[in-house]
Amino acid sequence: MRGSLAERILATVRDVEDFPQPGVTFKDITPVLADGELLAEAVQAHADPYRGRVDLVAGLEARGFIFGAAVAMELGVGFLPVRKAGKLPGPTVGVDYALEYGSARVEVHAQDLPDGARVLVVDDVLATGGTAAAGCRLIELCGGSVVAVEVLTEIAALDGRTLLEGYAVRSLATV
Ligand code: PRP
Repeated sequence: MRGSLAERILATVRDVEDFPQPGVTFKDITPVLADGELLAEAVQAHADPYRGRVDLVAGLEARGFIFGAAVAMELGVGFLPVRKAGKLPGPTVGVDYALEYGSARVEVHAQDLPDGARVLVVDDVLATGGTAAAGCRLIELCGGSVVAVEVLTEIAALDGRTLLEGYAVRSLATV
């Protein structure tokens, strides 16, 4: 019998040991992208709860661009790329956030985010939650409101939801 969507995502995401550095197990979602049926089902599942409820989808660089843009098209709304520092020509608004070692920054073109826009945030993986939390803060800083955060896969042991307290967070599959 065919498994649930969550079971099939978990069976398809590939664990890569010691990438990008020793001790880290990387969740590689590219096999999901390569499976047309699974990709379409995942995109539809991400979009279904939000039909008529969002004005814009924000995708977090880089793999959130792939799912986010597809979800935006499914919902018939625009797409806002939340990029790493220095990638957008500007003018940009940015938010800095802490990493285990050092810090990072995400930026958007605020002019592409209408004031009061209802925004769905999409990414592939929720780990510590730092990236998604920074993306949510950034959208609010620009005058948008975050409807929910949608991720393909959540690594529960890293407790990313703690940093996202107050936001509706949904993952299609949890490890
Ligand atoms: C990965 C993933 C998420 C983020 C999750 O992106 O795609 O965006 O990390 O981690 P966090 O919950 O601990 O913040 P990565 O930084 O590898 O960027 P990339 O997609 O550009 O490779």
